[in-house]
Formats: sequence, structure tokens, C-alpha cells
Amino acid sequence: MSSTRLDPYSDRYAARTHGMTASEIRALFAVVSRPEVVSLAGGMPAVTALPLDAVGSMIGDLVSGHGAATLQYGSGQGDPRLRERICDVMALEGIGVGGDADALPDNVVVTVGSQQGLDLVTRVFCDPGDIVLAEAPSYVGALGVFQAAQAEVRHVEMDADGLIPEALREALLTLRAEGRRAKFLYTVPNFHNPAGVTLPVERREQILALAEEFDLLLIEDNPYGLLGFDREPLPALRSRAADRVIYLGSFSKTFSPGLRVGWVYAPVAVREKLVLASEAQILCPPSLTQYAVARYLDTQPWEQQIKVFCELYRERRDATLESLTALMPDGVSWTKPDGGFYVWLQLPEGLDSKVMQPRAVAARVAYVPGIGFYADGAGQRFLRLSYCYPEPDRIREGVRRLAGVIESELELRETFGGIDPATLHGADAASVRATGTADEEGFAIRSRSGGSTPGADAL
Ligand SMILES: Cc1ncc(COP(=O)(O)O)c(C=O)c1O
Repeated sequence: MSSTRLDPYSDRYAARTHGMTASEIRALFAVVSRPEVVSLAGGMPAVTALPLDAVGSMIGDLVSGHGAATLQYGSGQGDPRLRERICDVMALEGIGVGGDADALPDNVVVTVGSQQGLDLVTRVFCDPGDIVLAEAPSYVGALGVFQAAQAEVRHVEMDADGLIPEALREALLTLRAEGRRAKFLYTVPNFHNPAGVTLPVERREQILALAEEFDLLLIEDNPYGLLGFDREPLPALRSRAADRVIYLGSFSKTFSPGLRVGWVYAPVAVREKLVLASEAQILCPPSLTQYAVARYLDTQPWEQQIKVFCELYRERRDATLESLTALMPDGVSWTKPDGGFYVWLQLPEGLDSKVMQPRAVAARVAYVPGIGFYADGAGQRFLRLSYCYPEPDRIREGVRRLAGVIESELELRETFGGIDPATLHGADAASVRATGTADEEGFAIRSRSGGSTPGADAL
């Protein structure tokens, strides 16, 4: 590629940058952030439900009383006190409970959000062209990391109970027949982003058994596990298989995403590599925010606060599901999350969430189109709704507007049935069709490999 007047550096960029583009949401960001638009798009936690004064004075005290440590460089692996407290948090999902001798602060690596953890794990394991297995759909930020590493993503089908073990077996057998092997399976077992579904215990056992049979490494990404509405957390995959699972955790959803504190919990050998990779990247995680999290866990009723968050999100989930049931036209279906932030919605046949998006923004409601959550261009009939941020009344209004948009899309389909959506909506739709593949078969999308560009900011 030669340089152009618009970008004189274009002939120098590394190959890994070629697929990097902004997501549809980022393109629409200015419009979507206007107050008259109800945004059901971003997955921003409701941080104003925190005891802000108490957190503020705690952080002020950390600077004025302990500045020599909190404003200084720290350990590349992360603050030892925080790593101890992280083990207490993981115990809530069964990690290190009941004789797991491996559950040690020494095996925790503190990261700048779990996003950095994902990046480190991918750097440590993936060369360009390597295969990564991931659910269909998958967290957009993970797809961005895999793409930047030039890994090849193969999607594995999900249904309303998360990853389907038989589909995983099929994918592993296919790889074996090709003489290839996946570097790992990336999975979000609890309150999945974007699908909102949770893997039951029985499937967890089946997936661990497959990991054993096929010598597969699992990356368990679990930022939402403690945000269940109706029951105690399920045991983490990591709690059942110390050597097979690398666990990613985060304080972003249970405390604050602005502090950017997450962690990786890994077998010893991997932990060494992760620390070296992290030191090369950032030297050490920020001291102040690590102290802030450790102090918060030491002095504030954090488990009680998680319950406060859960109640708040439950109310918003209820507002979402009730208004979807009351207002959506026939042919629209959606998942029923019992925790976390997201509902995954399927449009009637012939509708395309990316093509519909400008019309939705004009009706002052925003969502994330499904295609961002697939590495292979699938997902046109799907969209993600986040209920974590808007108040229930705003959610109801947002769903009402969305239902109106879908209804008028259906009328268009009736009137112009069979006409290409690009003709009805303008040239933008053409790019969707160019990468898209048919996904008319319900929640579970048949897996395919591919390399389209996920958005990077639709958390
Ligand atoms: C599944 C999943 N993994 C990782 C992340 C990144 O979180 P963090 O803020 O810890 O980097 C998110 C954020 O939304 C997420 O949904």
C-alpha cells in the first residue's frame, strides 16, 4: 500500500493495523450522547449508586496520608495487598475454596482492567494466523484484541444456555481433522456480553471434560459473575480445573470502571510470562487505583454495595423485559438475562439491525448492531440492548421508540418486500451486505471463520 495525501504514513503501518476501524457506535457517538437520545447502547455501570463521598474521602486520604507509596511506581505484578483481597473476591465463585492449593495471591497478576488481561493473554499465546475459538456472538473488545494479534477467530454456537458443548466438540473435531489446534477457547460464562445468557453447571462440567479430552486451554472472562439477580454465583470454570483455565476478573462492574483495575489468575508458568509481557507494556499497573480498590475492599461494605447494584440492575432489567413484552411486534425475540447488563434481541426475518440504525437514531433511540459481535460478518438480525445505565422510565421510552422503528421497518418490508434494504436506506447498507452472511436460524448462528472488523468501543 502506498502513502496517500490524507494519510502520509499509510505505507508504514504494521499489517496488524489493517483491520482496525472504528465501530458504528463510535461513528454515531456524537449523536447518541445527546440527551434527547435514549441510549441502550453502551454498557456503562451505574457508578452514581456508589457512596461517592466515602470513596472520595478514601482516595483523598490515600494521597495525603500515603502519597509516598500511592503516587510511586509499584510492582509489575501488582500490589501484594490487593492481590490478597482479589483472592477473597474470587472465593465468592468457588476459586480456592475446598482444597485448591493453587489459589494464591502469587498467581494473580493485576492489570489495567480485564481488557489488558485479555491483551496480555493473547500476546502470550497467539502468533499471526493462530486459531482462537470464541462464542457466537462474542464480546467486541475481545474480538478487537484477537484481530490486532492477527489471530483467526472460529465462532462456536450458543443458545439460551450459553456455549453449546456439542458445538464445541464439533469445532474441536473439525480442527483435529484439519491437523490444526486452537490456542484457546475464549468464553464469558456468566451474563454474557452481548447475549445476556449464563452457562448452567452441567454445561460447565461438559466443557471442562472436552477441554481435558482435547487438551484445550480455556480463557474464562468473568466481569459480571457477582451481578446475578436471583441466586448465588455459579462456580467458576477455574474453580474446577486449575491447570486448564486462565481466569480474567475485573472491578469495573462491581466497583468502578474508571479506576481500571482488573486481574488475571493463571497457572504459575503462565503467570511468569504475563508479568513479563505486562512490564514490557506498562511497567506496572497504576499504584493509586490499586490502593484505592484495596482500601475500598478493606473499609467499605463492598458486598453490600454489590447487592445495591444488583437491585438497581434487576429493576432496569425488569423495565426492559416488561416493555419488550408489551410493545414489540410479532416476530421479535430476545434473551431473558438473570444478571449482568444485556439483552440480545433478534429481529424478524428480512430486517437488518445495521441498516435500521440510522432510522433508530432519528427516532432518538440507540442500540449496538449485532455484526460488531461476530468476527465473520454474521449477526445482521441481532442487536444488543444495555439496561445498566438509563433509569427505568427512560428504558421504557427507549423500547417504545425502538418498537416503533421496527414496526415501520416491517411495514417497509411489507410494501417493498424483496427489495434490497440498501435501496430503501441508502448506500451504507451495501457495506453490510458485502461482509454479511445469512443468519436466519434463530439465536444460534452457525460458526464460520473470518476476519471482519469488530467495533472497539461497544462495551
Ligand atoms: C466480557 C467483558 N470482558 C472484558 C471487559 C473489559 O472490562 P474492563 O473494564 O475490566 O477492562 C468487558 C467490558 O465491558 C466485558 O464486557
